[in-house]
Amino acid sequence: MPIVVSQNAQLITLNTDHTTYQLRLDPRGFVQHLYYGSRVEGADFSYLWQHRDRAFSGIPQEAGDDRTISFDTMPLEYPGLGCGDYREPCLEVRNADGSSSVDLRYEDYRIYPGKPRLAGLPAVFAEENQAETLELTLRDRVSGIRAVLLYSVLPSEDVITRSVRIENDGTDTVSLERVLSCCLDFQQPGDRDLITFQGRHAGERTMERTHLSHGSFRIGSTRGATSHHYNNGVILCDRTATETAGDCWAMLFVYSGNFLAEAEVDQVLQTRMVMGIHPRNFCWKLEPGNSFQAPEVILTYSEHGLESITHNFHSVINNHIIRGKYAHQQRPILLNSWEAAYFDYDDQKLLEIAKEAAELGTDLFVLDDGWFGQRDSDTTSLGDWNVNEQKIRCGLPRLCKEINALGLKFGIWIEPEMISEESELYRKHPDWVLAIPGRNPISSRCQYVLDMSRQDVVDYLFDVFSGLLESCNIEYVKWDMNRQLSDIWSCRLLAERQGEVFHRYVLGVYDLMNRLTAAFPDVLLENCSGGGGRFDAGMLYYSPQIWTSDNTDPVERLSIQYGTAFLYPSSCMSAHVSASPNHQTHRTTSMKTRGIVAKTGSFGYELDPGKLTVAEKEEIRSQIQDYRHNWELYSFGTYYRLLPNPVDSRESAWMQVSQDQKKAVVSYVVKNVTANAPTRYLRLRGLRADTVYEISGWNFRASGAVLMNGGLPMPELYGDYPAVSFLLTAKED
Ligand code: GLA
Repeated sequence: MPIVVSQNAQLITLNTDHTTYQLRLDPRGFVQHLYYGSRVEGADFSYLWQHRDRAFSGIPQEAGDDRTISFDTMPLEYPGLGCGDYREPCLEVRNADGSSSVDLRYEDYRIYPGKPRLAGLPAVFAEENQAETLELTLRDRVSGIRAVLLYSVLPSEDVITRSVRIENDGTDTVSLERVLSCCLDFQQPGDRDLITFQGRHAGERTMERTHLSHGSFRIGSTRGATSHHYNNGVILCDRTATETAGDCWAMLFVYSGNFLAEAEVDQVLQTRMVMGIHPRNFCWKLEPGNSFQAPEVILTYSEHGLESITHNFHSVINNHIIRGKYAHQQRPILLNSWEAAYFDYDDQKLLEIAKEAAELGTDLFVLDDGWFGQRDSDTTSLGDWNVNEQKIRCGLPRLCKEINALGLKFGIWIEPEMISEESELYRKHPDWVLAIPGRNPISSRCQYVLDMSRQDVVDYLFDVFSGLLESCNIEYVKWDMNRQLSDIWSCRLLAERQGEVFHRYVLGVYDLMNRLTAAFPDVLLENCSGGGGRFDAGMLYYSPQIWTSDNTDPVERLSIQYGTAFLYPSSCMSAHVSASPNHQTHRTTSMKTRGIVAKTGSFGYELDPGKLTVAEKEEIRSQIQDYRHNWELYSFGTYYRLLPNPVDSRESAWMQVSQDQKKAVVSYVVKNVTANAPTRYLRLRGLRADTVYEISGWNFRASGAVLMNGGLPMPELYGDYPAVSFLLTAKED
């Protein structure tokens, strides 16, 4: 059984195939964290708790004269504020008497097969035989506040999920001022790094590795969405950890709003790592009898370096987060109208583009922004989701039919959470906007944010978008969010509940996505937020793919996709070939380089095919043919980084290996060609040692063992940003 309770009921051990997590229920009620690391059978790690007399550390009453027992340095599963633990807490409350103490002690546990759903929230899903769950209840004796810690163990994924439900079993309303979802305390001092994924619009998820020393290193978002600026996945690792060696612990938040991720090194070099909803402007009034469910964190550990962390996350996301018809299917190869025409089109122009797209062999035409209201620029019409008849004179159903007649599926862009001041909807419902009475709301991209914490707004949007999806054969929706939140105030909530708006907003978005995806299960939903501003596991629960970045320059994409693929599988990372010179950087690159980079994700095009030369069209046809033939490899192949972070390097290389290890693709791009360069040998990964592989374009074959040890020499490449890729195919005897 994955969850084992010792005979004296003091030790609870959670085992996955390769990891062990152990906690201890101290007779005084402390719930201590003991161990998270490689799998060890039948172990008792209690001895690891080396409690010593630490001056200036408060002692709980029950410890009597024993000065070695202190919350200040004790490794805890779920620390509360105010009881002598001065490190970063998970739970912070304001009690009815104004005090802020919460002393959580063990009350009860239960274990059951499977994994529960979390009300209103996305979460890892699993069959009864794929997971086992521990519910561990802690309680504060005075206020009656309970923290129910949920641990679900997915043994074959080497993953443990954690979340917490706070219940008010007291008689007074308590304000929750911070409810983080997960804490990991490391008792042994270590020399560790924290890997984060930072960025900006058009430069998301750039991997950064920071050495930890005394104090805190924290990242997060207070923008109401995960943000372009920091992703909500982090990895703590040994300073010496490499791709294939070293201890690594990782947390990935299944949530799309504000978040905090923090690693703190304390006075005795212990590290505490926490993750949850960012406490800034968070305050949840919890009345007696009510509960608050915090979102889930996915935990994984490997002693074999960063590569395994990536594989564990890719697998759990592909198999236990992404749902629906397209979860394991080939995603349609699409052509998106945005960089082809921006706002400047009419139905005839769209049909011309679609006709060319069909001739190139794509599957789906996506009508991006600009089709509704008076939308000829980004200054107007969000909220008016009726077709712009000056542009689409034939109407949407007819346009859709004609596109279908070309042999293409039809997809459409929407931005449900937003409203333009210049719109019918704003004139009718100015109070639907997130705004604070007496203050002018902050505008961004000339738009405001709808108050998604309001049920009536969510219901209205459900009706509008159900109507749209029923009006014609729409098979794909790109759901955008082109600004982040400000002016956090809802006219539907009392003054003391305004601290709930941020989270209620996210719940409203999830509710709408949930209802729409349930009502239209065959529609492929792609998320987007000015590119990758809301790229997280929460969104992936509703949409199998996300637009990775508004930056389509293949050279810039190298570091964006390198960082994104650290945590998220290729299947969900949308990547398109766009025009050259590139619209964001004005850089000129070859069609070959653009194709090699984009094929690593859910593939498509973002250009006007009418402007292509005959030779470029020919090349696109062969890219499409290759992707169609090898989609499983490109979308679901096991992903290996072959060279370090391209941000600091003149080259980038990665490979994907099919599940049966019979096929692999190796991709190599040179960012900065130099004369007489040293030969680059790529030591391949993930092949079968004793299988002989044929290598496309080479009159050469070699065993996996040879290629993984001797390496594959890359050819000399010249010019600007050259790239090459090789397909490896197992030679059948
Ligand atoms: C965002 C998206 C783009 C495009 C535009 C349309 O920036 O990321 O792909 O859809 O909006 O306004």
